[in-house]
Amino acid sequence: MCGIVGYVGFQWAAPILLEGLRTLEYRGYDSAGIATVDAEQGLKIARSTGKLHNLLVKLTADMPTAKLGIGHTRWATHGGVTEENAHPHCDERGRIVVIQNGIVENYLELKEYLLERGIRFRSQTDTEVIAHLLGLYTEELGSFEAAFGQVMGKLRGGNAVVAVDRDSPDRLIAARLGNAGAVVVGEGEGENFVASDLPAIVRHTRKVVFLEDGEMAILTESSVRYQRITGEELRKSSTTVAWDPISAAKGGYKHFMQKEIFEQPRTTTDTLRGRVDIEHGRVTLEGLALSEEQLAQIEQIHAVACGTAWHACLVLKYFVESLARTPVEVDYASEFRYRSPVLRPNSLLLALTQSGETVDTLAAMAEARQQGIPTLGILNAIGSQASRLADGGVIYIHAGPEIAVASTKVFTGMLMAGYLLALQIAQAKGILTPAQMQTHLQSLIELPGKISLLLKDTSLYDHLAEQYHHVTDMLFLGRWVNAPIALEGALKMKEISYIHAEGYPAGEMKHGPIALIDERMPVVCIATRDPVYEKMLSNIEQVRARGGRVIALINPEDTQIREKADHIIEVPSTTPLLSSILNTIPLQLFSYAMALRRGADVDQPRNLAKSVTVE
Ligand code: F6R
Repeated sequence: MCGIVGYVGFQWAAPILLEGLRTLEYRGYDSAGIATVDAEQGLKIARSTGKLHNLLVKLTADMPTAKLGIGHTRWATHGGVTEENAHPHCDERGRIVVIQNGIVENYLELKEYLLERGIRFRSQTDTEVIAHLLGLYTEELGSFEAAFGQVMGKLRGGNAVVAVDRDSPDRLIAARLGNAGAVVVGEGEGENFVASDLPAIVRHTRKVVFLEDGEMAILTESSVRYQRITGEELRKSSTTVAWDPISAAKGGYKHFMQKEIFEQPRTTTDTLRGRVDIEHGRVTLEGLALSEEQLAQIEQIHAVACGTAWHACLVLKYFVESLARTPVEVDYASEFRYRSPVLRPNSLLLALTQSGETVDTLAAMAEARQQGIPTLGILNAIGSQASRLADGGVIYIHAGPEIAVASTKVFTGMLMAGYLLALQIAQAKGILTPAQMQTHLQSLIELPGKISLLLKDTSLYDHLAEQYHHVTDMLFLGRWVNAPIALEGALKMKEISYIHAEGYPAGEMKHGPIALIDERMPVVCIATRDPVYEKMLSNIEQVRARGGRVIALINPEDTQIREKADHIIEVPSTTPLLSSILNTIPLQLFSYAMALRRGADVDQPRNLAKSVTVE
């Protein structure tokens, strides 16, 4: 959840750390801090609450010149948002300094041990126990490196840790424990880097090494050594990553979310690129580690994810069950991991995750692997933890970095990839003929162009926001494949505009939510043409009968609903299943316009973090 970065080399560390933290700020932004060390100036720590800018202001007058340092951007888990709880944390003697991402599950036990030894704590964090333990062990063993390995062995839970010893100011040590978020080492020329995420590093070097559970790296200016925390040396070879950090800039848009919404014609094209053979009516998902025979044998899919990615699983269920006639069970990853799921042979676990670092999703994947079931990932971030757990392969969305906390382009990318997967399974099972495949693929490749049409003129959403920005509650209704799109529309609205919004399958409305409807309640109704269109029409009548304000998504040729709704949003026609992808775009634009009109922090909504690496 938090972002971590470390540098040792020939340049001033502080500006590099601050720049790295800027790329990681989406991971957490309660507070930020850096520590730098060198022989002349010793250890210098600067921390501040709030956004990174506050730390920058603090440092501008007195930028440290040391060439080694560590930095952290925090999303609070243990202890409130205060400067004392901000990282880096130091031991009592001011010798060892630590940053951490994760949760030390046994920290109370460790804290008790330290308190008995007379240690005084300055913060409420679990991180501080690591600093004190490292301080004690370094004194006792006379070696920071040996102490680091031993202390790491005492921590329970998923943790990424980076530490520096003021008295060995030429090195920093990093470790990854359990199912912690990623720890990436960047190997440069005369300088080395460590971070929790690639964007913090790729500006400087593309040569990277990922640490696995129980591994540590000792970085100096001229070398990186890898070993297990128990001491055995490791030989790890680097991989070269291609990731353009410039594409992470806002590029003229007001917010990353706006940019990411407008990128969707390109990102949805990129998801299809090289995978679709219209001429022969075939799909080839290059990342699948499962053969056509293995795919043909799949009898059950368990789709797991969190949040928006969970909504994508719900849509994918309709795709796979309709096209490939294979049952799909959808679970919240956080529930799946604890409910002792019964996974039959010939089933497949499918994990959807943008970051590939969501702790519950990773745990669900681990559970499936433990039961001997292959796991397949639909992922965006390249080289994430999930990509390494997915023994059945990875289908990358290729949407590029998604910086805004609210997911937009990755959601539509997940749906595009999910549709391709459904077709690939149908192809393997011989359910669809090449001619039928061609028809489906033709509709799919027309989608990016139709998304462009939806983005052409967005003034309607400003007008809607003008009229409705003051409301306190909203309802989103849809049926069949668009029922999950209603849930996603409501989630987007609540997370960025802070308006209470509920998404419901429209058929459920009369079983409770209808009681909420009155003339103050805007109701967004997804009513594009599909097999349940007539049913949706009746639901709209029911809303109108109670005075609700109807904002309807319809196809341009629709005449029936046009007359009944207070506001119309026209969505290009496509196949009923694929309408889910097009209907998503207006809901994203509407929530963005509402958030903007309400003056909310669109890219970094309160209390949220981009990747949720703690439970
Ligand atoms: C909402 C949102 C979150 C994420 C969820 C899973 O807009 O972005 O609900 O979808 O936290 O994250 P990933 O996909 O990284 O596993």
